Amino acid sequence: AIASVRARQVLDSRGNPTVEVDVRLADGSLGRAAVPSGASTGAAEAVELRDGDPERFHGKGVATAVGNAAGVLADAVRGLDAVDQAGVDAALIACDGTPDKGRLGANAILGVSLATAKAAAAAQGKPLYRYLNPAATRLPLPMINIVNGGAHADNPLDFQEFMVAPIGATSLFEAVRIGSEVFHTLRRALATAGHNTNVGDEGGFAPQFTTAGEALAFVTEAIAAAGYEPGTDVAICLDPAASEFYKGGVYEYAGEGVSRSVAEHIDHLADLLRRYPIVSIEDPMAQDDIEGWRALTERAGAATQLVGDDVFCTDARRLQAGIDGGYANAILVKVNQVGTLTEALTTVDVARKAGYRVVMSHRSGETEDTTIADLAVATGCGQIKTGSVSRSDRTAKYNRLIRIEEELGGRAEFTTAY
Ligand code: PGA
Ligand code: ZN
Repeated sequence: AIASVRARQVLDSRGNPTVEVDVRLADGSLGRAAVPSGASTGAAEAVELRDGDPERFHGKGVATAVGNAAGVLADAVRGLDAVDQAGVDAALIACDGTPDKGRLGANAILGVSLATAKAAAAAQGKPLYRYLNPAATRLPLPMINIVNGGAHADNPLDFQEFMVAPIGATSLFEAVRIGSEVFHTLRRALATAGHNTNVGDEGGFAPQFTTAGEALAFVTEAIAAAGYEPGTDVAICLDPAASEFYKGGVYEYAGEGVSRSVAEHIDHLADLLRRYPIVSIEDPMAQDDIEGWRALTERAGAATQLVGDDVFCTDARRLQAGIDGGYANAILVKVNQVGTLTEALTTVDVARKAGYRVVMSHRSGETEDTTIADLAVATGCGQIKTGSVSRSDRTAKYNRLIRIEEELGGRAEFTTAY
C-alpha cells in the first residue's frame, strides 16, 4: 500500500522547474518520477499548473503543484494498493475534479501516477516495462531528431522537427548507432557549408535554414554520405507542428516569408513527400484544421504515416473522433498531455483496436527520467520519438532502451515496418 508521497521542484532540460514525486510503499519500496513539459503544447492538453509568481522562476515555478502532490493528492492515495494503477489514477482524477486537471495540476497528478507505477514495480523487483507487461519483448524503432526549428530553435525554420528513422536496422542498438553516424555526418556537412552546428531544445542542429527543402536536402545527403541508402536504410520523419503557424485559416510560413492556403500547404507537403524519402509526418495540419487533416489523409494517408499530436492530445475521445472522422492514421502518445498512466494506456488501446499506429513520445522540456522508454516496450507500440542522439535528457531514453534490449537478450524483438 502507498505509505507516503513526497514532491519537490527540480530542473528540466530548458532550465525551468518541474515536478518530481517520490511514492513510498509500506514495504519501503520507492518510485520516483519527474514530469516533462512542452513548448508547442496542444490546446486540449491537460493543464500544467505554474505558480505565476514573477519573483520565482519568472512565474514558471511549480511550488503549488508540488504542494498539491504532497498534500491533497497524497491524502487521496495513501493506503491504496499501488498495484491497482487504475484505482490510484481514478482517486487522483476525482480529487482534482476538473476535466482538464487544471485545479491541482496535471503535472502534480502525473508525477504521483507514474511514481506509483514505479514503486509497485520496485516492490516486485521488476523493471517497469516488465511490471506493466510480463510478456513485453518489442523494442521501438526510434525517430531520431537531427534538425530543430519552430518553437524549439531560434532559426527561421517553420517546421519544428526533422528526424531520421533507421528502418534498415536490425536492433535498437543498431538503430541508435546509425542515428549517431548520420548525426555526426550532418554536423560535418553543416560545418563545411558554413552553417553553425549549435543544437536546439531536442538536441538536433539548428542552422539558419529558412525552408524545409533546404533542411531535407542536407539530411538526405547526410544519410547517403554516412553510407546508408535514403529511404531503404534510413527514412525521414517530419513534425511541422503546424498548429504553431496556422493563423486565420492559412499556413503562415514566417521564416520562408510565404503564406499558403490549406490547399497550397497540402500541395507543398505532397511535393516534399515526392522529393524526399519521408515516411511519417506528425501534425502536418493544425489542430483546428480538421478539414485539412481529412483532405491530407485522403491524399497521402495510404502511403504515409500521419501522426496526430496536437489534434489528439493523447485523449481517447479526441482520437476516437479522428478514427470516426477519417483523419490521421497514427497517434503520438505523451503521458503528460493526458495526466495519468491509466488514461495514456487506454488511448494506446483505442489506437491499436482501430489500426492506428502509436508513437511513444518525450516533450521538448525533459529530465533524466526514462519512463517513456519503459512505456514504449511495455506497450510494444513499435515507435518512439525521444529527440537527438545528443544531450543527456534525450540520450537517457536511448540508453535505457539499450539496457532493456540487452536484458531481453534473445527474446528482444525489433521490427521496423512502416
Ligand atoms: P513539445 O513538442 O513538447 O514542445 O510540445 C514536441 C512535439 O510537438 O512533438
Ligand atoms: Zn508534435
